[in-house]
Amino acid sequence: MLDVSGIKVIEHDILIVGAGGAGLSAAIEASGMGMSTGIVMKSLLGKAHTVMAEGGIAAALANVDERDHWKIHFRDTMRGGKFLNVWRMAELHAKIAPERVRLLEEWGAVFDRTQKGLINQRNFGGHRYPRLAHVGDRTGLEMIRTLQDHGIHQGIETYMECTALDLLKNEKGEVSGLVCMWRETGTFIIFKAKAVILATGGGGRGWEITSNSWEYTGDGYALAYEAGAELMDMEFTQFHPTGMVWPPSVKGTLVTESVRGEGGLLLNSKGERFMFNYIPERFRSETADTVEEAARWLAGEPGARRPPELLTRDVVARAINAEVKAGRGSKHGGAYLNIATQRSAEDIKKKLPSMYHQFKVLAELDITKEPMEVGPTCHYFMGGIRVDADTTMSSVPGLFACGECAAGMHGANRLGGNSLSDLLVFGYLSGKNASVYAGKIAQPPDVDQDQIRSIVKNATDILNRESGENPYLLHEELEKICSRM
Ligand code: FUM
Repeated sequence: MLDVSGIKVIEHDILIVGAGGAGLSAAIEASGMGMSTGIVMKSLLGKAHTVMAEGGIAAALANVDERDHWKIHFRDTMRGGKFLNVWRMAELHAKIAPERVRLLEEWGAVFDRTQKGLINQRNFGGHRYPRLAHVGDRTGLEMIRTLQDHGIHQGIETYMECTALDLLKNEKGEVSGLVCMWRETGTFIIFKAKAVILATGGGGRGWEITSNSWEYTGDGYALAYEAGAELMDMEFTQFHPTGMVWPPSVKGTLVTESVRGEGGLLLNSKGERFMFNYIPERFRSETADTVEEAARWLAGEPGARRPPELLTRDVVARAINAEVKAGRGSKHGGAYLNIATQRSAEDIKKKLPSMYHQFKVLAELDITKEPMEVGPTCHYFMGGIRVDADTTMSSVPGLFACGECAAGMHGANRLGGNSLSDLLVFGYLSGKNASVYAGKIAQPPDVDQDQIRSIVKNATDILNRESGENPYLLHEELEKICSRM
């Protein structure tokens, strides 16, 4: 029989898997409630897809337009999600987001400011009013930096380059821990925990063209599913309309929606603003239908309607694809995105510093002078682990989920900026409710040796076999199948 008695065991009240915005928010809340809290991550602290939400955090602070209110944010979120959202999650999100953004500011996030010194907010697709609290086009990065700094000083234990293999459950079917593997050495480690929070992000690496980095392989869905949790809406995948299309080595890299939020125009090969031809009926009443009206909106004229470039991501991504299919695509098979004619070079460098740098370095293109080429890139999973809206617990007792790996909040399509606020709100709710749950458990977690043996055997069998599928080739095939349109 496989001997697992020598594997090191570490015990925490709460164990979190994933150190993006959701995992860190959960960890801060749990450790703040006096729980011994550990956070396991496949990569390094500070490296998470959270940084790819560049444009801002959506929250009805009403700093730039005082008509904004959580109820309007709720409405926009439901409508963006085709009303397939779990409405209670969208309600909690819209109500709680402003206070979490203010807290992030208290913890040191250096937001851009209005002239009155308030947190500045910008326009984004599908949001009725300027709602995205931002730090140039590096908001996700600033959020991660702030949360990790705060969390580490609060005493969270971190386990880096540690891959989660499978959850452990006790004989009552409650989660009791996790078996992991150190990536550097291939050795195993057992975590005992009263509650586990999955904050593992999505699975965008299943697609050939994606904004996601190598870590996003859907691990949380697999962990939850294998443990008996329910998944939902797994077909709801988001394509961000603007990824880089050239050069091929960086195809899919995100071009933030802030470019359109700051007035960027989408053009086809004939120089036409094609989005005017793709306004869905449900958005007609609030979308400008002439170039003149869109320009008046940009100039701040009251009553003018928003340009069609600020329609929701699903609409814009489909429109770009349709233009390409109709033979009106850009040189390398996308659309042109022009901010150079809309803003001064100084403004562009101030509001979109990362984009300026990204195109200079990766595409040898100066976005203050020339248009970018962009096309859809797989960005986000709306589906995932089914959770209770208020507690974020899955159908497995003691197993919680938050952030991208949890489903329901965004329905069939997420609005830009609602991801960072989702991480702050539901990370916090997960940390709080997992702590309440763990606080009721008096006994140390009980782990079963047979389960550990089977997990370790499963992880090592692949190294000892003579034949079978090659996982790299399977992944390649999956990418091709998913990307077929
Ligand atoms: O375009 C962006 O900056 C991405 C934001 C988001 O996914 O929320």
